[in-house]
Amino acid sequence: MAKGASGRVAGKVAIVTGAAAGLGRAIALRLSEEGAALAIADIDAKGLAETERLIRQSGRPVQATVADVTEEAPVKDLFAAILAAHGHIDILVNDVGGGLSGRIWEAKVEDWDFVMRLNLRSAFLCTREATRHMRERRAGRIVNLSSGSREGTPWMAYYTGNSAYAAAKAAIHGFTRNVALEMAEYGVTANAVAPGPIETEKNRESFQALEGLEYGPTRATPLRRLGMPADIANAVLYLASDEANYITGTTLAVAGGR
Ligand SMILES: NC(=O)c1ccc[n+]([C@@H]2O[C@H](COP(=O)([O-])OP(=O)(O)OC[C@H]3O[C@@H](n4cnc5c(N)ncnc54)[C@H](O)[C@@H]3O)[C@@H](O)[C@H]2O)c1
Repeated sequence: MAKGASGRVAGKVAIVTGAAAGLGRAIALRLSEEGAALAIADIDAKGLAETERLIRQSGRPVQATVADVTEEAPVKDLFAAILAAHGHIDILVNDVGGGLSGRIWEAKVEDWDFVMRLNLRSAFLCTREATRHMRERRAGRIVNLSSGSREGTPWMAYYTGNSAYAAAKAAIHGFTRNVALEMAEYGVTANAVAPGPIETEKNRESFQALEGLEYGPTRATPLRRLGMPADIANAVLYLASDEANYITGTTLAVAGGR
């Protein structure tokens, strides 16, 4: 149920990258429900149009931009367009991420580079643009998506490898913490959310395939269930809202106890 003017981020302008699917879509919808004007970006035009439709359906404002946020020029254009439309940006959620590099002894250099680029270059480029503006305004919230994989995830490590992803998501923690320290004197907070195994349309089948194994996701999660996108969206909403005024530089695990 959209709360509009009485919502927890009412009157804020929020950018969510990777909003065409999965957690990014859930985060965008949740921030919108709580009163934020949304700017959503993704490389997937079709999925982005669906997120845009879902937000519009609730009568809330949304600006959708198809953009590759691992490239400098589209990121600059994206932020310029949002500032032209709204005059300010309050919240940045760096959701774009993912990628596979396989077992360490077989990993290809191009896969390693791709994973770093997708998870880190995107967060760097968007955060740089956002902080240039937020620093002047002396206000703003940045929320990055890390992962339980930042410390190695048993089912992923044992059965698929993917050390590049673990390294990138650990780097998100360090990046977040450093940005938080740099931006503290300007009243801008930066935090990360580290999801455990969260079921989305895209990964449902791969999680199911792992469940029968000794260290399957549910068995290795103390709360004994996969997370839902809403679990992550609620955590991001909290960190983006005024309720989290005194929290910065932290990575919040939303991982069922892992
Ligand atoms: N789902 C999980 O279990 C889980 C667990 C831990 C961390 N995470 C992290 O949460 C975030 C979202 O995960 P998800 O499962 O929803 O992923 P997803 O793959 O479903 O969504 C990622 C979105 O990013 C978009 N994207 C990819 N490359 C892009 C680019 N260059 N420019 C712009 N958009 C691009 C994709 O089109 C997609 O819509 C990621 O950072 C992921 O690493 C997810």
